[in-house]
Formats: sequence, structure tokens, C-alpha cells
Amino acid sequence: MTDLEKRETFLPFNRPTIADEDVEAVASCLRSGWITTGPRCGEFEDLFRRLTGASGAVSVSSATAGMHLLLTALGIGPGDEVITPSLTFASTVNQIVLRGARPVFVDVEYGTLNLDPARLEEAVTPRTKAVIPVHFAGAPADMDGILKIAERHGLFVIEDAAHALGTTYRGVHAGGFGVPAVFSFHPIKNITTGEGGMITVDDAALEAKLRLLRFHGIARDAWRRYGKGGDPSYDVFDPGYKYNLTDLQAALGISQLRRLGDFNRRRASLATRYLEGLAGVAGLDLPAVPPYPHEHSWHLFVVKVTGMERERFWAGLADWNIGYGLHFPAAHLLDYVRGRLGPQATLPETERAARGIVSLPLYPAMTEGDVDYVCRAVRRILAAGEGP
Ligand SMILES: Cc1ncc(COP(=O)(O)O)c(C=O)c1O
Repeated sequence: MTDLEKRETFLPFNRPTIADEDVEAVASCLRSGWITTGPRCGEFEDLFRRLTGASGAVSVSSATAGMHLLLTALGIGPGDEVITPSLTFASTVNQIVLRGARPVFVDVEYGTLNLDPARLEEAVTPRTKAVIPVHFAGAPADMDGILKIAERHGLFVIEDAAHALGTTYRGVHAGGFGVPAVFSFHPIKNITTGEGGMITVDDAALEAKLRLLRFHGIARDAWRRYGKGGDPSYDVFDPGYKYNLTDLQAALGISQLRRLGDFNRRRASLATRYLEGLAGVAGLDLPAVPPYPHEHSWHLFVVKVTGMERERFWAGLADWNIGYGLHFPAAHLLDYVRGRLGPQATLPETERAARGIVSLPLYPAMTEGDVDYVCRAVRRILAAGEGP
């Protein structure tokens, strides 16, 4: 291994794909004189109804805000238990805890890192109110299995679709299963609005409640109050939050959503190249794809390092000028979860995976050469058995 082989410029783990048309869409919104929640948010919500098949869509300032609104609107609170995989973003666990409810963690399937329906039923107690499956890295969770168990026990299902823009399960897009779902537009997601999120629902009463809670408990947003002939008076029906998306963000989201198909085809092609380029590498487990019909959004490419200590592997990637991510530290092992919620059940597959998971660079602007470079580096690092 000579240093000449190593790139001089840093290959980031992720980079949003921003084109001139995105810049123009935001600039046009800026020039329009209306930059907070308004017609562009409405259009973005319509596009999500069409994308997912859900009857309702509510744009929000982040997926975290959306999860908070949903847990609140569904009445989840003290004394309730909410089942979630431990391999999820801490935001979900935080929102459950902040509502005064208790997160109950279930194991995942090692290959896909998705919630294992076989483990779900044994976690249900009389206090269980809801289950929050994640479509991990864009691979759909086994929705039939999860929905069947939820129905048997009268549980709400909330899809964490933060990774699932473009993900389908047996021909149904995430958010299209008749249960609430939350999407994220954080800069590393498959489309971005800078920060932002979308809730999809199939229940008009729930949608109305979410809209109220999203904006102070006021029924009409400012666009309807300050527009021509609008009625500026308002009443507050429930104390609410300030979780609205802005038209500036929606303008970017609409422009990005037009290219979601192109983005995801590119991601899938690069992911396939990784799977081929890293096939058979000792000390590395590659992501498995679900056995049922699906479309993968390839939001992340998460490998498991088994052949060496992960920190040394990270150091090796850094030495090769390659960025990396961690999705996610196991939530049941987080400091406050263990400290405040008490000892947690062991989750063998989650813990086995959590020791080695590393997210490799994956985003549409990467070249085939970039993927080949990462594959070469990964092989070298693992063959040497240690970082620099
Ligand atoms: C699985 C998962 N859920 C929820 C979130 C929260 O999304 P946001 O950053 O939009 O609040 C993320 C964000 O990274 C995520 O990866």
C-alpha cells in the first residue's frame, strides 16, 4: 500500500444533491413575498398524497416534530408502552420518553436490520399502545407481519419512514398502508428541504388534529388569515406547538421530489456496485435485502465489520480520506436509557450488529470510481487487520 493510491480530497459520507433548479425554486419563493407556510407547503403535501396513496399529508419542521405530534395526537402518555427497534435514531426514543411513555425494545433481523415480527408479539403487554417499525436504510420492514400482530392486539402502528422515500413493500409505497407514517428531509435523506418532515395519515380526524397541534392549536394557518379576503381572527382549540414547515423549504422539497426517481436509481446502481465490489470480503457482512417484493430506496449502505475492531476500521477509512457514519448506536444501550429506564433486555441480533455497523459513503453525486475506491480501501484495511 503506497500513499500514492490514497486520494487527496476527502470523500464525504454524504452530500445533498442541489441543482440550479433547486436554487431557482427557492429564489422564486423568496421573490414571491410569501416565505412561511403557504401554497408551496400545500403543493408539497399534495405531492406526498400522490406518492404514498395516503389520503392526508401534513408537512412539519422535522420527522422528530412529526413523531412528537403523532404520539401526542394518538394520546400516548404515562403508563403506556411503545415498541420500537433499538436500532433506530434516538429521536424516536426521546419522543416516547418525553411523552411520559416507556419505550420497549425488540430485536432486529441481522441481515436487513429491520424489526423482526417474530420478536414483536412477545414484547406486547396489556400496556402496549403502539409499535414504530423503521424501514431501515430504505429496506421496507415486513409490514404484513407487523400489521397482523398490531391488529390482533389493537396497537397503533407508526411507520418511521425517515429512510423510505421511494421505498415500496409489495407494491405499496411507505405511508400507504392506512397507518400514520413520518418522513424526514434532513440533508442526508433521499430528498432534502434543509430540515423538514412529512406525516402521512389515512384518517381525516387525526389529520385535522395534527394540523391544529402543528401550529399553536390555531385552525387556520397564516396563509389563510392574511390572504386577500382572509379572516385574521382566530381561536385556539388545544395548546399546540410550532412545528410548521416553511414555503422556502417546501419550494426546495418540490423541486427535489421531481428528481427522486433519478436520485434513487443512482443510489441503487451505486449500492449494487458496492455489493459486487465487496462480495466475499472476509471480516465484513454486507446488507441483506428483504425476501419479499420491494423497492429499496438505498438511503444508506450499512456494512458490519466483524474482522477487526470498528474504531480501527474507522481510523483506516479516515487514513484513506473516506467519510463514514454510524446508524445507529443501539438505543437500549444509550446512557440515559439504561440509567433512567433501568436494565434492558438483551437483544442478541441488535447487539451483534451494533458492534460492527458502519455506514459507507452513498449519495447520487458519487462516481463509480468513488465506489471502487472505497471497496479497494475496505479490502486493504481489513486485509491488514488494523488501522494506521
Ligand atoms: C430512522 C430515523 N428516524 C427519525 C429521524 C429523525 O429525522 P429528523 O432529523 O427529520 O427529525 C431520523 C433522522 O436521521 C432517522 O434516521
